[in-house]
Amino acid sequence: MTVWYALSAFAMVVVATSLLYFVLVNGMYREDQRDLADNLENAILLLGASRGTELSGPVSVRPAPALRHRTDIYVRVMNGDGRTLMQTPGMADQVRAPTRSELLGIDVRHREVRQILSRTGEPFLTLVAPIPGARVDGPRYIEVAMDRAHDEYLLARYRERLWIVLGSSLVLCSLVGYLIARSGMRPLEGISHKAELIRATTLHERIPADGLPAELRGLAETFNGMLDRLEQSFRHVSQFSDDVAHELRTPINNLRGEIEVALSKARSQEDYREVLGSCFEECTRISRLIRTLLFLARSDTASDALQREALDVGEALATIGAFYEAAASEGGVLLRVASIPHLRAELDRTLFQQAIGNLVSNALAHTPAGGSVELAAAGGEQGIQIAVRDTGCGIAPDHLPHVFERFYRVEQARTGSEENAGLGLAVVKSIVTRHGGEVAIESRVGKGTEVRLTFPQRLIGSAGKPALTIS
Ligand SMILES: Nc1ncnc2c1ncn2[C@@H]1O[C@H](COP(=O)(O)OP(=O)(O)OP(=O)(O)O)[C@@H](O)[C@H]1O
Ligand SMILES: [Mg+2]
Repeated sequence: MTVWYALSAFAMVVVATSLLYFVLVNGMYREDQRDLADNLENAILLLGASRGTELSGPVSVRPAPALRHRTDIYVRVMNGDGRTLMQTPGMADQVRAPTRSELLGIDVRHREVRQILSRTGEPFLTLVAPIPGARVDGPRYIEVAMDRAHDEYLLARYRERLWIVLGSSLVLCSLVGYLIARSGMRPLEGISHKAELIRATTLHERIPADGLPAELRGLAETFNGMLDRLEQSFRHVSQFSDDVAHELRTPINNLRGEIEVALSKARSQEDYREVLGSCFEECTRISRLIRTLLFLARSDTASDALQREALDVGEALATIGAFYEAAASEGGVLLRVASIPHLRAELDRTLFQQAIGNLVSNALAHTPAGGSVELAAAGGEQGIQIAVRDTGCGIAPDHLPHVFERFYRVEQARTGSEENAGLGLAVVKSIVTRHGGEVAIESRVGKGTEVRLTFPQRLIGSAGKPALTIS
């Protein structure tokens, strides 16, 4: 982080200084060009005074007073053959005079400034132009040259200072980058320290978001949200294991008690047979309970894939109805199945039957003689809906929100319930959720209960045929 901060800040300094340097170089060059042009104009004006005077050979002239503000300006006058008529003393040693062909090639309209190196290697700017007005011995040319050594010297000094500025800003940027990174990381270190201290026993701890900078407050809130969810899941898991231990303790204690009593004295073969039969029943209950728990645990992790098939829902409900018919008539309850024929959906047959079976067995268990239980199915845009209604005792509103929880039973305290573990509706919910569906329950005490399962519409295979076909 420090390196990134330092590098980016340094890169900005480099860009800014380079930009300033190039602006300066350009500005100086333009200024020189303008100076040169002004000097050329001045020189032409001053030379106007010597109009008519014949210059027969090379003469040395000092720069006119107007030109003397810069000692590094040279002026030369030439005739059309390139012969020098007069020039600033010392100019010949520095700037070579243009040849005749160079003079002929001069573009009168665009005064072109040339950059050249003098004989001694000094940088010069020169500008050549014809002197206006006709003369008997042909055209004359004036050349103005400017020594840029001083500019170069200034730029070299400026560059030297730039290097010093760049060097010290690199050190400064690294230092500031380090300080920013450190102060930025300090709250993160606090968060990570807090996270390190969180254990199963301290899941209630939260990261205080108030003192944090705005950028990290979101992170702390996300982290706290995660802790909320973890704490809740953890509470569920530990509640679940408590319940499991509790549920298993009762039948195992029963088993132990029966065996203990049987072994306390010698018994007849008939007595042993009876005890063994009772033990077998307990074992069956325990193994059923364990099977259900395993099923729920696997559903939570969705480790078993669903075995979906195009199920005729009406037929499946009729099969379940037939299975429970005997139990219903024994209890004096009327069991009816009402379904649209050929209602098809992609469902796991075994799980579907288990879910509906659990609902029917609940309904039969809570409906007194003379009542009725109805199984109905319908299809629509939202998918397929199955309803199991009864005219039984109903569930009080206090209990209703909890009936899908594991081990939740309405009627009696857990210890008193021998047959029911309170897992039936939890299994139903888990099956429907695995199919991507939803469960809903409505109940009125003394009137009856209705549980509705909604399985979403799903396409069969890859051919794109709808799973739900109503004909
Ligand atoms: N149709 C219903 N009418 C009245 N009460 C119901 C009905 N269905 C469920 N309940 C109540 O909801 C509770 C939870 O039902 P659930 O099926 O989960 O457990 P259970 O039937 O007690 O045990 P299990 O199904 O595991 O043998 C039950 O204790 C029961 O009191
Ligand atoms: Mg049940």
